[in-house]
Amino acid sequence: MNSLDNTAREILERNDKGRYTIPTSGLYPYQWNWDSVLAAWGFATFDIDRAWTELETLFNSQWDSGMVPHIIFHEDSPGYFPGPDIWDTGQTPPTSGISQPPVAATVAAKVWEMDRQAGAERIRALFPKMLAWHRWYHTVRCVHGPATITHPWESGRDNCPDWDIGMEGVDGSGVLPYERCDTRHVDPERRPQKEEYDKYVAILEFGRNCGWNDQAIMENSPFLMTDPAMTFILLRADRDLIDIARALGEDTTEIEGWMADLSAAVPSLWNEELGSYDARDLRRGKWANNISSGAFLHFYAGIRNPAMDKRILDAWDAVTYGIPSTDPKADRFEPQRYWRGPSWPFMNALIAIGLKDAGLNLLAERLRRETEALIRQGGFYEYFDPTNGAPCGGSDFTWTAAIWLAWAGRT
Ligand code: GLC
Repeated sequence: MNSLDNTAREILERNDKGRYTIPTSGLYPYQWNWDSVLAAWGFATFDIDRAWTELETLFNSQWDSGMVPHIIFHEDSPGYFPGPDIWDTGQTPPTSGISQPPVAATVAAKVWEMDRQAGAERIRALFPKMLAWHRWYHTVRCVHGPATITHPWESGRDNCPDWDIGMEGVDGSGVLPYERCDTRHVDPERRPQKEEYDKYVAILEFGRNCGWNDQAIMENSPFLMTDPAMTFILLRADRDLIDIARALGEDTTEIEGWMADLSAAVPSLWNEELGSYDARDLRRGKWANNISSGAFLHFYAGIRNPAMDKRILDAWDAVTYGIPSTDPKADRFEPQRYWRGPSWPFMNALIAIGLKDAGLNLLAERLRRETEALIRQGGFYEYFDPTNGAPCGGSDFTWTAAIWLAWAGRT
């Protein structure tokens, strides 16, 4: 085992709280949904039992509605905002009130594949929970066709320019006074700005004032946008859930129906003028007009679209390291500000899965090599500047370590 593999394992072990991992101490001291799922993929390379435990802990906090929350506040950690009191969801342990992209079925299928026997009982128990989560997505969040998000944080790509248009309609002026904690841990220049943050809090307060009632939020939330990434990730996860269901001898009709409906909605994500899949503000009926890594997940969803393929390559060729989170030629591109330009190792991993499935092995390998270089040169950071490889955000980051073990470091 090489020394970077060792370091990656040490990071996972350090961020391991027993039955779940935190993304990184300080900046993100709780369990986050998709971070945790990706951690499971990393754990599976050396401790399959621990990988299943990670997924099980996440689903233990599933709501009765089927929703799996984006943060689970297992233990008190006062240095984080917005904490459990602000979300006030009434769950035990406390959780946030929104979800995150459903990568669980995809990763669970991979973990199971790595050791069929060890996973046999665990996947059987997880299957109905994953099914219930997908059902929640399809029946609650997909009522307008493609998958929608009710808060930028639900997308997992917090301040991506995809959400600018939707955020314009949000009034952040009336939020209760609060103190941010994120800018104590990392350079404020690389984090979302204050005005944006006020709006994030305002959308959260709206959900809380609705008692986190799904229907009220879908009907009246000040923020509602369709998200290509959420749509593509859900489509992909449906496909993996079908494979799991078949292997378990479960009925697949319901999932196939969801997949067919969602696939039929994909063309409505195409912004003809932009020549790309694009997010759309459903409150004002306007496109985001932004080419982002969200749209680049079309391969991952098993969609072939030559015009979109070209968009990816153009954006990728314009930088040096990995796929940028926002089109480098756009005015809004900022190579170091969170989701407004940087390259995210785990996003590269998802895109590479899609490239490989499409038979584009050379491109998949190029993406792996560039991601490997980022981590070798910069360390296990949260994300990187795709133009010069500068490491950014939190250090000793769980999903970067996990992705190293599961993909980027495997030659
Ligand atoms: C940020 C990211 C989100 C991630 C979380 C924890 O909010 O945008 O995707 O899950 O940090 O790492």
